[in-house]
Amino acid sequence: MHGFHYQEGRLHCEEVDLEQVAQEHGTPLYVYSAGTVLGHYRRLASALSEIDHLICYAVKANSNRAILQLLAREGAGFDIVSGGELYRVIAAGGDPRLCTFAGVGKSREEIEYALEQGVFSFNVESEAELAYINRIAAARDAQAPIALRVNPDVEAGSHKYVSTGRSENKFGIALERIAAVYESAAGLSHIRIRGVQMHIGSQITEAQPFAEAIGKLAPVVRDLRARYGIEFLSIGGGMGITYEAWFASGSGDWWSGGGNAREHKPLTIGAYAEAILPPLRVLGVRVLLEPGRLLVGNAGVLLTRVRYIKETGQKKFLIVDAGMNDLIRPALYQSYHEIVPVRQPADGAAGETVDVVGPVCESGDFFAQDRELPTLSEGELAAIMSAGAYGFVMASNYNSRPLPAEVLVRGERATLVRERQTYEDLVRGERGAEP
Ligand code: LLP
Repeated sequence: MHGFHYQEGRLHCEEVDLEQVAQEHGTPLYVYSAGTVLGHYRRLASALSEIDHLICYAVKANSNRAILQLLAREGAGFDIVSGGELYRVIAAGGDPRLCTFAGVGKSREEIEYALEQGVFSFNVESEAELAYINRIAAARDAQAPIALRVNPDVEAGSHKYVSTGRSENKFGIALERIAAVYESAAGLSHIRIRGVQMHIGSQITEAQPFAEAIGKLAPVVRDLRARYGIEFLSIGGGMGITYEAWFASGSGDWWSGGGNAREHKPLTIGAYAEAILPPLRVLGVRVLLEPGRLLVGNAGVLLTRVRYIKETGQKKFLIVDAGMNDLIRPALYQSYHEIVPVRQPADGAAGETVDVVGPVCESGDFFAQDRELPTLSEGELAAIMSAGAYGFVMASNYNSRPLPAEVLVRGERATLVRERQTYEDLVRGERGAEP
């Protein structure tokens, strides 16, 4: 489900013509569909309605204030990994008491800030961190609510950089050691044991690893409930989305999934819920979820304009105005993003095999290699699809390129929700060298 489709020959986000938006705000430009974010959130909430649950949106996927606001108004909680993310949630009107604070390297300042704001739980990743949180809470005469992150050692089949639930990863505490660590937590005066957490990876496209991990944790949850009265199990995020589609299906719907060689079946919310509900139903604790990509991934595109076309002996390059600094996923994970022209190609129009590359001075600065695309000419607009998650948030100023602007679409309205950076922004805070 997503809010992008062709209408009168142009790609639209909901009711908004993306060519007009690009003209008004320039490129590269991130555009998000509010309806898609809310649609995903509501479908997930309704699929899980029979159990007591709280969806804590993983802020790291897209932390724009407007996106956080949309979800805060729906009553969502938030999964945060830094003091900065907590600050953003509060600035967006989110409730800090619905925030789970994850991450392997929380600082003193972050822990103090989170205690002050009364977060729902610290998701603790090591015994050293547990002891540190206890000391900081003691100094403030506070009780820190915690959950330990269990590493269930499950193969989730995703990219090695985003797979987190195997024992060789830096995340969590091994299943065999978890009872002992809870016991030492129970002995700490300023720690309040509140729950247990797991997260096995990201962009997981099958339901089975989730069910397997929950199955492995179920006896632990029962035991912890009996011993310490834990209230919740957080099953993390990681639900995969569709990145690959087939645009020449003739229906004008890029997501209709026709006979593409790269075709794959997405993990649907229904299939996910069906797999996880049976083991969760019987646990008798509240279930927390931390989806990031599922909610926002297909809700965003990166609009870019073709600057130059360059042909070498072997290749044809479309040099676009977005670069790896704007969207690093292809360079970092070799991830596939569909690229579509904003002007709808005529039925049966010719295609060609091209590399789509950015202006950054690195060979890794590409969005597609040897990709069959409809013919695009200089000055034409293209949309890099499924860029709503881990897009803008991972953007940088590399090559001193100002960060792109962001626009949120709701129905017929397109609102600038982050201004494009200027050259002055690039040097703000810098000091000259002493003479
Ligand atoms: N919970 C925890 C503890 C996490 O570490 C993550 C993501 C999430 C939830 C949300 O995962 P999601 O539902 O979005 O898969 N930059 C990479 C993804 C990194 C994911 C890190 N952890 C990418 O662009 O694919």
